[in-house]
Amino acid sequence: MKENFFVTTPIYYTNGIPHIGHAYSSLIADSIARYQKINWKKVKFSTWVDENSQKALDKATELGMEIIPYLDNMAKEHKKVWDWLKIEYTDFIRTTEPRHHKLVREVLQKSFDNGDIYEGEYEWMYCVGCESFKKDEDLVFRNKTSWETFPVSDKVKISENIEKICPDHLTVPQTLKEKNYFFRLSRYEQILKDFYAKNPNFVMPQDRFNEVIAFVNRWLEDFSISRETNKFGIKLPFDESQVTYVWYDALFNYVTVCKYSPHPNPVTLQLQDSRVNTPSFTCLPKVEGIEQEFHNQMDFWPADLHVVWKDIIRFHAIYWPAMLISAWYELPKNILTTGYFTVDWQKISKSLWNAIDPVEFSAKYSKDLLTLYILSSFNIGQDWDFDQKQAILTYNAKLANNFWNLLNRAIVLTLKLELDKWLSSKVDKYIANNIKKYFSVYDEAFSKYDLKASLDSTFRFLDSINNFVTTKEPWVLMKDEARKDEVEAIMYTICESVRLVALNLYPFFPEKMEQIFNSLNLVWYKELLEKWNFQALRNKKETFFIKEKAPILFEKFELE
Ligand code: MSP
Repeated sequence: MKENFFVTTPIYYTNGIPHIGHAYSSLIADSIARYQKINWKKVKFSTWVDENSQKALDKATELGMEIIPYLDNMAKEHKKVWDWLKIEYTDFIRTTEPRHHKLVREVLQKSFDNGDIYEGEYEWMYCVGCESFKKDEDLVFRNKTSWETFPVSDKVKISENIEKICPDHLTVPQTLKEKNYFFRLSRYEQILKDFYAKNPNFVMPQDRFNEVIAFVNRWLEDFSISRETNKFGIKLPFDESQVTYVWYDALFNYVTVCKYSPHPNPVTLQLQDSRVNTPSFTCLPKVEGIEQEFHNQMDFWPADLHVVWKDIIRFHAIYWPAMLISAWYELPKNILTTGYFTVDWQKISKSLWNAIDPVEFSAKYSKDLLTLYILSSFNIGQDWDFDQKQAILTYNAKLANNFWNLLNRAIVLTLKLELDKWLSSKVDKYIANNIKKYFSVYDEAFSKYDLKASLDSTFRFLDSINNFVTTKEPWVLMKDEARKDEVEAIMYTICESVRLVALNLYPFFPEKMEQIFNSLNLVWYKELLEKWNFQALRNKKETFFIKEKAPILFEKFELE
């Protein structure tokens, strides 16, 4: 029996189409999902869109569109990006789907019945860009004339010339005074502390986890889970005059995809949905026939891994476990937190024209270049700047030179041997030791979702085999008929190393690696990998029958 593995990306806001920042989390989740799949796991991988947000509503209004057609269109646009990048998700979710409304209303009712949700009236500052409530300490002052910003402090008083803004979005938060429902997070303080102590790797990397723990140790405040003034979203089951706060709804997407299967065609779902004609954007109506299609995949819950960036770690590592416990669900096993990245050292933003489109970029340079650069150049968790020149140099060096040259040599030189049998021998001792050394690092790193370290160890092994080829000079030895066996052993070591490197790189570059298996005449490898097991294939004694030269798989790119 295969074990289950469930990985998620954040669901993305639909006020724009995904840029490379979003592609970063999807590519991480995709590589992890593919790795788990070839390690004999049954994989569930969910993604897609967070729709009940003020941002999307504002954007639709700005474009003069009705919200539902706007969301339908954006959902399609998002899906196109992930399909184009060949992200192999198994589940996609729109938070306007009936199944999600159903789930959210169920969990809200449970928490309400538990006494974890209560009514209050508060005055809030709310940043639409962040879709979150703000306190003074989350904001900065800005001088309206000089545009200079500085920390909020008692010494400076708000005056005509000074305003408080969100440091990320550089906008003045809305001030709201409304009736809200609150989630009793304070009740979960000790429970969370105990859970963190028992699960020391719950949040990765460790420094992010330390921040979460420090935050919980300071004190936990109840938070608002509803909005009175918003009209678009999921109505509270116990007070239909209020809609659910977007984060409370969004987080539960991870459970919805396990509990309820989607409508057969969620992209066009909205067109059949009577909300299209509902001018007040009220909550979801009952859709005939949907109920029967719901079925249970709860065997995938709890999630093995949520991939998120550091900006939303508090929602995932503090609010989310408490919300789950309150609704009687188990807690996810791990949260992998990525750093923040910029383009030209600026926050990625449509208005700054620095939002790199992952589709356009991959169409120009290949998806492999994008994947290699963003997964091998930076530790997950680290902040970094996207440098196109560096991306090209990395790809040229690692794939177009080091790997392609090795593969090409393996094939061309083996062809020169003019063998009329399968190439079979023993792997050179020094290389066999390197395989052990570097591959145990690869496996250990992957088990901690350290993709950079897995890639690094594979490329280090690749360097060692390239050195081996240069030192052994099989092209010289070949001229001496008496050394035929020795040459065959060298060529066997080289072909075997190419095979092993391709296995290691398969979760990152599946299509190219499949072509490499084909060039080595290992034509069933893709199927074998998915049905069988990566480790078993690694240890399999393989023989090679090379028939023809390989097409160029990794073309070099010129720097512009
Ligand atoms: N909708 C929420 C997530 C809800 S999950 C229950 C959200 N959406 S988002 O569209 O703003 O961002 C989603 C994710 O995209 C982030 O969590 C992050 O993983 C990724 N990134 C978006 N911009 C990014 C960078 N500039 N850098 C790194 N990751 C980025 O938050």
